[in-house]
Amino acid sequence: MSRSAHPAGPRHADVLPEGHYQAPPTDLNALDEKVWSRTVSRDADGAVRVGGIEVTRLAEEFGTPAYLLDEADFRARCRAWRDAFGDEADVFYAGKAFLSRAVVKWLKEEGLNLDVCSGVELATALDAGMPADRIAFHGNNKTPAEIERAVEDGVGRIVLDSFQEIVRVAHTADRLGRRQRVQIRVTVGVEAHTHEFIATAHEDQKFGIALAEGQAAEAVRRVLGLDGLELVGIHSHIGSQIFDMAGFEVSARRVVQLLAAIRDEHGVELPEIDLGGGLGIAYTPDDDPREPHEIAKSLSEIVTRECAAAGLATPRISVEPGRAIVGPTAFTLYEVGTIKPLEGLRTYVSVDGGMSDNIRTALYDAEYTVALVSRRSDAPPMLVRVVGKHCESGDIVVKDAFLPADLAPGDLIAVPATGAYCRSMASNYNHALRPPVVSVADGAARVIVRRETEEDLLRLDVG
Ligand code: LLP
Repeated sequence: MSRSAHPAGPRHADVLPEGHYQAPPTDLNALDEKVWSRTVSRDADGAVRVGGIEVTRLAEEFGTPAYLLDEADFRARCRAWRDAFGDEADVFYAGKAFLSRAVVKWLKEEGLNLDVCSGVELATALDAGMPADRIAFHGNNKTPAEIERAVEDGVGRIVLDSFQEIVRVAHTADRLGRRQRVQIRVTVGVEAHTHEFIATAHEDQKFGIALAEGQAAEAVRRVLGLDGLELVGIHSHIGSQIFDMAGFEVSARRVVQLLAAIRDEHGVELPEIDLGGGLGIAYTPDDDPREPHEIAKSLSEIVTRECAAAGLATPRISVEPGRAIVGPTAFTLYEVGTIKPLEGLRTYVSVDGGMSDNIRTALYDAEYTVALVSRRSDAPPMLVRVVGKHCESGDIVVKDAFLPADLAPGDLIAVPATGAYCRSMASNYNHALRPPVVSVADGAARVIVRRETEEDLLRLDVG
């Protein structure tokens, strides 16, 4: 959630309301590669393409709003994470960011594992051919049916989140005659510098078992005493959209200290640690995310150093990036409907979607950028707020941005970096039909999640 105070350009100084703005870009036609996926470009004639196809053609064929996902970029990001961590570590893509059968297939082909957090995410993964032993099952309140399914299907690990769950998973494993591999999720007491709703390692929240007061050590004692469970490691996830590595370092250090304490008390060295996901991406050009190789290097250095100091063999590390893989790979394409200039304030640009396809601005005060993509324009910049079509004044997609002053109804605009937590958190508010996800690669486009239809919604309403 970048935020930069910036004076507006001279043309706007007299009309800008109080607030913080990104600078009006010097060239509104430029597409900053920090926030756009890698095959996005603007032709000399002004049309924007992704995966070799003009977005105007994509809009004609698939309609708007639509999420356009750059498959080559997705695969390249998977490979960057895989290569950065090498064979000594595992990368689990966090499916909650965005999951579909096509994505599962790409992950499988690119050598990533998958983290799921519901029975239906698990079903999607298995249906698309992800081997069960490459799946981790998460969640703070897995239902008995979900636990049963995960154990029965033989998932590679279940990440235990509470004392009750230790008992539930152990009973299920006993009943099914299995020995289930598990990790224990601990809260390490780190205050991650991110929005309160997406920080997860401080103590006053619902996830995991606290290291403080010996809770985690007690959970380890219980798990080690149960035949149906094989404790393979400790898990920590400190939050999401984080740029500063300091929190990960503290977390890694505390997890290694717990491993040392377990060795001292039980004489067992656990073979794995999982440091979760949470790496931030650029939503605006002001954000400076870390590259996977930097993250891999700093995590592996800290774990190796702390383990050496504690006299432990270095465990196998795993990480769970979601946003950092899928976030930058997609943008949302909208058609402009109405344009309302509010004298002395800003211009409200209404699009054919809104908080039903991107709740992040309303929920986390998230910042995005926007660009006119159906043509080029040399008109001067105008300060806009991009809003949706829902019955709510908080229905904002992009709070403050600049678009060309000749913007007109029917123009196509696009909001980049919407690959993570937009389709997966989409809703049917006002009976909105959730948009399709269209993957684009090498001049070909394919719907991977189709647009909902009126019949889909009416079918749920059984009268
Ligand atoms: N591992 C665990 C255990 C998690 O809970 C999460 C995210 C991840 C990995 C992946 O985190 P990522 O790398 O994607 O940041 N809806 C919010 C984000 C919620 C994240 C929940 N857990 C948003 O739109 O920002």
